[in-house]
Order: sequence, then C-alpha cells, then structure tokens
Amino acid sequence: MLSREEFIRESLELNLFFQRIMKEHLFFIETSAQPVDSRIKAQAASLRMSFAELLAQTIRAANGVVSEAAIGSNEFVTPFTLDSEETTARLTGTSINITLTRAELELTSNRKQFNSYDEVFIRALNGRTLDALERVINFQKRLIDMVASCSIFIPLYPELLRHITREAELYRNELRALNEGELPRGRICFQIDFWNNIMLEHAQFIDGLLDPTEEALKAAAQGFVDRFSELIGRCSAENESRIASQSREAAKDIKAYKAAATEGLLRCNIESIIVPLLADHVLREANHFLRILG
Ligand SMILES: [Fe+2]
Ligand SMILES: [Fe+2]
Repeated sequence: MLSREEFIRESLELNLFFQRIMKEHLFFIETSAQPVDSRIKAQAASLRMSFAELLAQTIRAANGVVSEAAIGSNEFVTPFTLDSEETTARLTGTSINITLTRAELELTSNRKQFNSYDEVFIRALNGRTLDALERVINFQKRLIDMVASCSIFIPLYPELLRHITREAELYRNELRALNEGELPRGRICFQIDFWNNIMLEHAQFIDGLLDPTEEALKAAAQGFVDRFSELIGRCSAENESRIASQSREAAKDIKAYKAAATEGLLRCNIESIIVPLLADHVLREANHFLRILG
C-alpha cells in the first residue's frame, strides 16, 4: 500500500509526463487529418483541450511536490520543448498553449507536507484523467478501424496510431493501479519490454519520415531498430539486471540521437517530414524510459 505522500507524488509525476504526451498525440492527429475529415479534426482538438486543462491542474498541484529526479530527467519538458512548440505551431497554423511549458520549466521539488484534502483532490484529478483517457482510447481505436477499412486517409502510419494507443493504455493501467493504492509500474521486465518496443518503433518511424537523402541518419535509425529488437523478449528474473543495463545503454544512445535530431530540425539542418514537436516528444519518452531504468 502506498503512503499518502507516495500516492500524491507518483500520481503527479505520472500525470505530468503522460498528460502532455496525450495532448501531443491528439495534436498530431488534429494537424494530419484531411479537410474532408473535419469531424475527426474537431474531435482531436476538443480532446487535446481536455488534456491541456488537466495538465494545467496537474502543474498547479505539482509545484513543490514532485521529485528532483523526475524534474531532472527532462521527461516533462526538455530544453527544446518550448522552441519545438513555437516552431510547430507556426508551421502548422495550430496554436499550442506554451504557458503550460513555461510553468513546467519553473517546477520545483519537495517542499511541502500533505493533508487528506490533497489526497482527495489528486484522486479526483486521476479520476477525471481516466475518463478523458477512455474517450481518447475509444477515439483512436475508431480511427485505427477507419484507416484499416480505407475509409479515411491520414498521413500517419497505422503502426503509429496503434503505438500511441498502446501508450494511452499503459497510462490508463498505471493510473488505475495508483488509484487502487499500488505502485504504478509492475514487473520491471514488462516495463523494459514495453519501452524497448516503443524505442524500436520510434527508430522505424524516424527512418520512414526522414528524406531518402538523409542516408547517415537513416542508417543510424536502422541500427537502433536492430539493437532494440535484440533486447525485446529477453528479460527474465534471472537476467533482469543485465538486460536492464543493456537497455539503459541503448536508450542513452537513442536519447542522444533524438536530441541531435530535434536540434537539427529546429535549425533546419535535416530534410524530413518530421515536425520538431514530434522529435521532442519521442526524446521525452526516451527520458522517461531512462528514469524507469534509473
Ligand atoms: Fe507518444
Ligand atoms: Fe512513442
């Protein structure tokens, strides 16, 4: 059973990371939907707004509460997030609330005591988030079905739509566990396999979205695909720490690659069909994985 303090801190850290992730998935759908699919665009926009509002509440509650390790991991925001949002908003003509990002850049850690009121508030915030998550998962699953039956065209890989939906489902499971008084993350091997697979798919997406002339970057992405595929499914109770340390090395390398790619995109030094916010998004997911492995 989690203590009150653990429940509050773990909830806020999970929400800070994933609420932003969810809002960005919806941004990618919203800005990719074609003019004929105006209802999909509007639904994505409205769900994105819900997650922006939830994130605003989380940030207010999290200030002074979250751990130094979580802030320092750069899984909530990176040094590129603000610039990525401004550039991506300008390039897509779709506004992004950067006051949230500014507030997150100023977050501080561990100052206060908690009372039962805090706990009730956080439990309710988790509940509202679970409701919004249910709507997002249903929406994205409908979209996946429409793509599978060729009744919609959207320039996002079907695998990317399934990938973001798996992330939403993981978030839902971890949040449910927390609200039931358990630690959000179960077996370490499950986490390692889940996130190694996510890292592998990021490398596949990046490879597929780079211009064909970006040969060196594409070859590096392919190298990550090979590396992560060798790690997936290998973790067991006997070799947990060895696979964790190999995963950590691979995740550190892909993190450096993604950081360089985000910076290169922002400086217009890379030819691709990747918006900077997508690069920063996958960088944060690598940072999150590294903190779990930490
Ligand atoms: Fe994601
Ligand atoms: Fe991802």
